[in-house]
Parts: sequence; C-alpha cells; structure tokens
Amino acid sequence: MRCSLAFLLALCFLPAPGPAQDLTAPGSEAPLATSWAEGDAVSQTFSNFTGSVSDRGICQCSVSLPDSTFPADRVEHLEFTARILAQKFEKELSKVKEYVHLISVYEQKLVNLTIRVEVMEKDGISYTELDFELIKLEVKEMHKLVIRLKESFVGSADIVDQLEVEIRNMTLLVEKLETLDKNNVLTIRREILALKAKLKECEMAKTELVPATPPPPAPGKHAISFYNLKYLFNVSCFIGSCSHGGVVNISNPSVVKLNWRGFSFIYGAWGRDYLPEQPEKGRYWVAPLNTDGKLLEYYRLYNTLDDLLLYASAQQYRIAYGQGSGTAVYNNNMYVNWYNTGNIAKVNLTTNAVAVSRPLPNAVYSNRFSYANVDWQDIDIAVDEHGLWVIYATEASTGNIVISKLNDTSLEVLNTWVTRQYKPSVSSTFMVCGVLYATRTLNTRAEEIFYYYDTNTGREGNLAIKMRKMQERIQSINYHPFDQKLYVYNDGYLVNYNLIFLQEPQEPV
Ligand SMILES: *[C@@H]1O[C@H](CO)[C@@H](O)[C@H](O)[C@H]1NC(C)=O
Ligand SMILES: *[C@@H]1O[C@H](CO)[C@@H](O)[C@H](O)[C@H]1NC(C)=O
Ligand SMILES: *[C@@H]1O[C@H](CO)[C@@H](O)[C@H](O)[C@H]1NC(C)=O
Ligand SMILES: *[C@@H]1O[C@H](CO)[C@@H](O)[C@H](O)[C@H]1NC(C)=O
Ligand SMILES: *[C@@H]1O[C@H](CO)[C@@H](O)[C@H](O)[C@H]1NC(C)=O
Ligand SMILES: *[C@@H]1O[C@H](CO)[C@@H](O)[C@H](O)[C@H]1NC(C)=O
Ligand SMILES: *[C@@H]1O[C@H](CO)[C@@H](O)[C@H](O)[C@H]1NC(C)=O
Repeated sequence: MRCSLAFLLALCFLPAPGPAQDLTAPGSEAPLATSWAEGDAVSQTFSNFTGSVSDRGICQCSVSLPDSTFPADRVEHLEFTARILAQKFEKELSKVKEYVHLISVYEQKLVNLTIRVEVMEKDGISYTELDFELIKLEVKEMHKLVIRLKESFVGSADIVDQLEVEIRNMTLLVEKLETLDKNNVLTIRREILALKAKLKECEMAKTELVPATPPPPAPGKHAISFYNLKYLFNVSCFIGSCSHGGVVNISNPSVVKLNWRGFSFIYGAWGRDYLPEQPEKGRYWVAPLNTDGKLLEYYRLYNTLDDLLLYASAQQYRIAYGQGSGTAVYNNNMYVNWYNTGNIAKVNLTTNAVAVSRPLPNAVYSNRFSYANVDWQDIDIAVDEHGLWVIYATEASTGNIVISKLNDTSLEVLNTWVTRQYKPSVSSTFMVCGVLYATRTLNTRAEEIFYYYDTNTGREGNLAIKMRKMQERIQSINYHPFDQKLYVYNDGYLVNYNLIFLQEPQEPV
C-alpha cells in the first residue's frame, strides 16, 4: 500500500498533461477530486488534499497524509523480514520432509506396539487393566490388607513389614510412572502380581501350622497315626475326598475382609459355592443380614477372591424373603430359610429366581431353637463333600439337633438323624464328610469345637479343639470341600480357617 502511495505522489508532481483549465475550475475543487476518485479507488484514502495550477502550467498539490514521512525504513525492514521468512520457510520445508520420514518410523513403532499389546492380551492382561486408576486402587487395597495382616500377626511381623515397604515403594513408582509412559504399566502389573502372590504366601504361612503333639482321636475313627508338615502339603491330593480321619485341629483365623456393607452389619454369612463338577471354580458369596439380624435382603457374588478383596466386579442381588444367617450355596444355587416360615427356598444364582420353596417337615422356626448368641437361625443349611444338609430342631427332639440330608434339586428330605445335643447351647455347626461338628463359646477370644455327630456311623461324642476368634460372636460357619476351609462370619468380618485332618493309612472303601 505504501508502495502505491509513492507511485501516486510521483504522478502528482508530473507536469500537467492537458490544458490546465480542464483540470480545475477556480473556486471549485470537487471536479478534481472526482477525477482522482475515478482513476484509482485508493484515492479515497487521500481525498484530503488541496491542489492548484501555477501560471506556468505546473500542477501543485499537497496531500495531507496520516503518516507525514514515507516509511522507507519500514519497507526495508519488511524486505528483511520477508527474506528471513523465506529462509525459515525453507527450514520448515526441510523439517516437514524430515517429519515425513519420522512418521514412517513411528508407524513402524506403532506396528511393533500393536504386536506387543496383542501379546500382552494373550498373556491374560486385558487392555482395560492397563489403567493407572485400577493399579492405584490395587496398591491401596494391598496396603490395607498388609496393615490388617500386621494387626493379626502379633509378634514376628518382619515379612509383613518388608511387604509394607515394598507396597509403599510401589505407590511412589506408580505416581512417577503416571507422568511418564503408559506402556510401563505392564511392568508394574507384573510386580503387583508378584506382591499379591507373596501376600497370599504370607497368609498361608500364618494359617498353616504344624501340630507339635499327636492329635486326639478323631470322630468315628479309631486309628491314630502321626502326621506332619508333609501331609499338609499333600492335602491337595485328597481334595474333595474323605480319606482322612476327621477334623483334629484348626488353624488360627485369617481375616479376609470386612463385609461390603460395613461395620454395623454384624450378622450374616459368607462362603464359596461348591460345584461338585468343577470344585475349583466356585464363586464367593457374601450375605450380610440387615441390622435387625433377621432379614436377608441383599447378597453379593464375586468371581474370584481377588475381586472380593478389592470389592471389585461384584454382582449384587436383592431378595426380600431371606431369614437368618443359615444360608448356604451349592452348585450355583443359594439355599435360604424363608422369612417367618419353616420353608427352605432354593434360589438360582444365575437368575436370582426362586426355583423351589418347600417346608422342612416338623422344623421349629421363629427363633425358638436358634443357636446360642445368634438369633433367627433355627434352620441352618450346610454343604459338604456329600451334598446338601440341614441342621435344625423339632418339638419331638425337644430342641436337640436334628440333621437331615436333602435332595438339592427337590429339597425333599432323604434321611434324618436325631442327636443328643441341645441346639440352643451350641454357637454354630458345620458338616464335613457327613460329620456334624458343633462349636461352643469359651470366652470372647475363643470357641471350641466340642461335639461331633457322624451320620456315617451314627456315633457322637466330644472333642476339644480350640478355635481362636477375632470378634466375640461366630454368626455362621460354612465349609468348602475343595478349599477345606471354614468361612466364618465373625461379627461383620469375613474370616477363614484351615481345617487340619487326621491322616490315616489308605483303607479300601
Ligand atoms: C482532513 O484533514 C483535516 C485536518 O488536517 C481533518 O480534520 C479532517 O478530518 C480530514 N478529512 C478527511 C476526510 O480525512
Ligand atoms: C520393530 O520391531 C523389529 C523387530 O522386533 C525391530 O527390528 C525394529 O527395530 C522395531 N522398530 C522400531 C521402530 O522400534
Ligand atoms: C524402597 O525404596 C527405597 C528408596 O527408593 C529403597 O532404598 C528401598 O530399598 C526400597 N525397598 C524395597 C523393598 O524395594
Ligand atoms: C492346634 O493348632 C494350634 C495352632 O492353631 C496349635 O497351637 C496347637 O498345638 C494344635 N493342637 C494340637 C492338639 O495339635
Ligand atoms: C506326598 O505323598 C506322597 C505319597 O503319597 C509322598 O511320596 C510325597 O513325598 C509326599 N509329598 C510331600 C511334599 O511330602
Ligand atoms: C439357573 O437358571 C438358568 C437360566 O434359567 C438355567 O440355565 C440354569 O440351568 C439354572 N441353574 C441351576 C443350577 O438350576
Ligand atoms: C432328587 O430329586 C430329583 C427331582 O425330583 C430326582 O430326579 C432325583 O432322582 C432325586 N435324587 C435323589 C438322590 O433322590
């Protein structure tokens, strides 16, 4: 624009081409302005000028410009800038060429990465798991677990201390990594898995104890043979089988978790589904009662113990008719006492629908013969290697424990045994290999497995197996034949015990 201005100025100082009078009429500037305007649209900008023609026919005009001096320096600067820009453009152009090359390299890297991710997926690490939030949650939960472990380890807690340091380091590492590269998440995940394994080992070490003295005679059996640590490691060979001499001892409790509804839900039950066809596949279930200690309204299922530990991927269901904490789960069905009745309901866990509801003949209900310190458990359902059982009392049994074997499909009673043990004086019971074991309260810190009834032989008798506890009351006990563990609901805490069986020589059955 300034260039064209210079051009206009040059024009202005040229001698007038034609007769002067053509250009202007004295006293009138308008025609001149019009002719300028006609010639160049730019002239509008400079319409503020005065012009006159001298006697010698020289055109004189003055133009008032917004900028009084011609900005030659600026033009120079502009030219300079233009040159620099051109150089820069050259540079950028070469960079673009470079980038095109780089892009092809990155493309290759991307392909490599895709392959890696595919490999990772095949390794069983799903894509959604590559998430820092999840990892943080896991680390946090592990930390909590370790703290709880530490509390339950009185005395030597060196391993746990070590684990705690490692987990704290892990937290820092996760935070650091989060600012770097998401791909490194995998490394962390592997470390977390290793840590988890260590935690499990740690828990095992805590619960797997070797009895120092020969055990007392086991129920229904006479042979006494010594057993040792080796036997404990060999237990897996006998899983699901009953080729042992019965329960002779029990590990210390290991607290797994607080129930998902919280501290105030002190009544309830938990356990693991026993699938006779796939014993290692059973889901975990947690069924805290409402705070009235009677109504079972909500329960949760977890596919794995890890899910339960993290409160992750839970499936929650509602039933409005459960009563008490005598619930048991067998072969993907939950068995509950129907509210305010002597009925047992079978609930399909796939659909949460009632498959069967059937009265238990002669069973007394409505809190007449419940357990000591635990209400609304007149009807206690149990599962063992042989299937489904129910423990209750009748008026005819004068409140003594009655054991019935049930058909798990139809809930019909298959067989019944009447014991000489008064039900309201025991705190809980469980079945293992057709043998009923009953506990009683010694004090706020200990229970005792004090009584057994063997339905295989009809024999009954006393035991004295001390069972430490975390909280005062044992709300319910469920046995799992594959794990050979007790799942105990201890005033809101989910607690596990390992059972220790009497080893005996293989007998032909
Ligand atoms: C012409 O110039 C005078 C002063 O020099 C200014 O006040 C006026 O606004 C200008 N007119 C136009 C059309 O630019
Ligand atoms: C991609 O993987 C191949 C084979 O593993 C390797 O040779 C190549 O250098 C990798 N490319 C890049 C860009 O990482
Ligand atoms: C934890 O981190 C500290 C400092 O980075 C290091 O000295 C220590 O060895 C780490 N501990 C473990 C168990 O990894
Ligand atoms: C039973 O196990 C406990 C540890 O849980 C142990 O202290 C005790 O000695 C064992 N009792 C017998 C009789 O083996
Ligand atoms: C397991 O039992 C077998 C015999 O039944 C024995 O040979 C083996 O040593 C035992 N394993 C362990 C770890 O003790
Ligand atoms: C539960 O219900 C589903 C769907 O109706 C059915 O396929 C399944 O066989 C039932 N399971 C049991 C154990 O009855
Ligand atoms: C259990 O009940 C079902 C259905 O009524 C029947 O088919 C099955 O034979 C019964 N099983 C036993 C062991 O009685």
